[in-house]
Amino acid sequence: MRVRVPVPLRAASAFGTPSAVRDEGDGMAASVTVVDHPLVQHKLTLMRDKARSTQGFRRLLNEIGMLLAYEVTRDLPLEPVTIDTPLEEMEGRQIQGKKLVLAPILRAGVGFLDGMLSLLPSARVAHVGLYRDPETLEAVEYYFKAPSDLADRTVLVLDPMLATANSAVAALQRLKERGAHDLRFVCLLAAPEGIARFQAAHPDVPIWTAAIDSHLNDHGYIVPGLGDAGDRMYGTR
Ligand code: PRP
Ligand code: URA
Repeated sequence: MRVRVPVPLRAASAFGTPSAVRDEGDGMAASVTVVDHPLVQHKLTLMRDKARSTQGFRRLLNEIGMLLAYEVTRDLPLEPVTIDTPLEEMEGRQIQGKKLVLAPILRAGVGFLDGMLSLLPSARVAHVGLYRDPETLEAVEYYFKAPSDLADRTVLVLDPMLATANSAVAALQRLKERGAHDLRFVCLLAAPEGIARFQAAHPDVPIWTAAIDSHLNDHGYIVPGLGDAGDRMYGTR
């Protein structure tokens, strides 16, 4: 299901197969793609269950990461390449340009990394260390390390949770300051409030998510959600 809405978010109405739509400078934000593949939805339901073990939660996030990697790369441009099969020369196709960058937002974004790297083994990795201040819900940066040539690469920013979007907005801002301009955001769950804020701040960046939940509670948690993704993934609390 693909949703493309005016900035800021007003309605969620357009449907189609998962694929990205760029901001075309027409006052519309880039698309929000809900990856409603049955495997993704099944695994997400298992993850939401509060009885799921730390080990199970981590494994499922990893598996969904792999499936989301497949969807978020669906429209990458290809270029012709001449190769020799054992029988003859032929023109194949390969992904154009430099290797992708995967940019997990620490900690929970790391949960997507192994699954994505299993499909994109030569991707570069940028780490964006942010935590959400529990009182203000503002994002606080504590670490940043990225390849120097972000301007030449497609960057997939990874974080399971898009709640207030403070973390995502700050991460994208930081990556843009370092030259990135071809960005995609991948999450597991998004709140409508977070999507609106994200699109107001970064209307050029499309979003892929497995679900859009109902709302945020008074503590900025996604409802019904799955709780604190980092704590559930690492067994902290
Ligand atoms: C969580 C989550 C996101 C952020 C989302 O991280 O992984 O990064 O909250 O919330 P927001 O959209 O309101 O910013 P948290 O700050 O709990 O850190 P952690 O991943 O280290 O647990
Ligand atoms: N961060 C989480 O881990 N979960 C939420 O519901 C919101 C922010």
